[in-house]
Amino acid sequence: MQSLIIPTPDDWHLHLRDGAMLRTTVPASAAVFNRAVIMPNLVPPVTTVKAALDYRSRIMDEVPHGVSFNPVMALYLTAETTPEQVAEAAANEHIIGFKLYPSGATTNSTAGVKSVDALEPVLAAMQEHRVPLLVHGEVTDSDIDIFDRERVFIERHLIPITERFPNLKLVLEHITTADAVAFVKNANSNVAATMTPQHLLMNRNDLLVGGVKPHNYCLPILKRRSHQQVLQEAALSGNPKFFLGTDSAPHVQASKETACGCAGCYSAPAAIELYAEFFSQHNALDKLANFASGYGADFYQLPRNSETIELVKQQWTVAETVDTANGPMVPYWAGMGLNWRLNR
Ligand code: NCD
Ligand code: ZN
Repeated sequence: MQSLIIPTPDDWHLHLRDGAMLRTTVPASAAVFNRAVIMPNLVPPVTTVKAALDYRSRIMDEVPHGVSFNPVMALYLTAETTPEQVAEAAANEHIIGFKLYPSGATTNSTAGVKSVDALEPVLAAMQEHRVPLLVHGEVTDSDIDIFDRERVFIERHLIPITERFPNLKLVLEHITTADAVAFVKNANSNVAATMTPQHLLMNRNDLLVGGVKPHNYCLPILKRRSHQQVLQEAALSGNPKFFLGTDSAPHVQASKETACGCAGCYSAPAAIELYAEFFSQHNALDKLANFASGYGADFYQLPRNSETIELVKQQWTVAETVDTANGPMVPYWAGMGLNWRLNR
């Protein structure tokens, strides 16, 4: 049997939700990842250090005995966020940064930012305190086509922000376009990007050909194959600006398989195996370790993990459904095969 040992990975973009859902989502991610950046798009959103620390302790309550898992919290940036809150966040080891959601861009983003320009004082404070800005990079204007929203956000907002704040640490989350890859590559070393399994493994044909596939629907939406290929090249290149962030985003089956379905792919039950599948498809499994367990920690100036995990070459099939307290959930890649499996 072939086996691959890599340092324990970290998930730099994760949605766990709250309440009884944590009983499903926390063990799934804690089984493989050491650290995870926990996204703050709850209802109401997690906007203060106090709310984030309370949320973090609810997460820790669900970590199985004997398992090490360190949630690092992102705070939800709003028009009310102050430079003082930035300083408070900078001083707390459990807070990793602020997440910018353009209002209306995605699940639970109504409290998000309506004017990026109005953020100047807060961005200045983040630059000064070296607090990273994590960005959902899509405009929400109704006249901008959904497939162009990431590119237009980069042109209108990200290029000006990086020019105005060259020392601001910025992560463009879950990138989906050649435009995003070019932006990140051309920016200085303070700019990086996370990449999801679905955007590496799929393109919009997987969403729309042969019937609508709601479980492949996430935001930013899957793009055409030529964009997927540029994302793949970036991940395979070994450029340290590109690293793992699953964007695992649980929604129950009833909320996905409906006339107006939620955006998000629940990839946590097979997260590392999905990335292994991608790298092995391209004969580049040697690149998995840095992508999953190295570059993200380096970017955030955190120590790399010293423990390891083992993946074994073994065919298996992702479950059709996962039970949760709120009803069944269909994971990403449900019912489909994978060639590598975490040795649990
Ligand atoms: C995420 C969610 O469900 O919270 N959904 C998604 O499609 N990715 C939100 C997000 O990261 O955009
Ligand atoms: Zn997300």
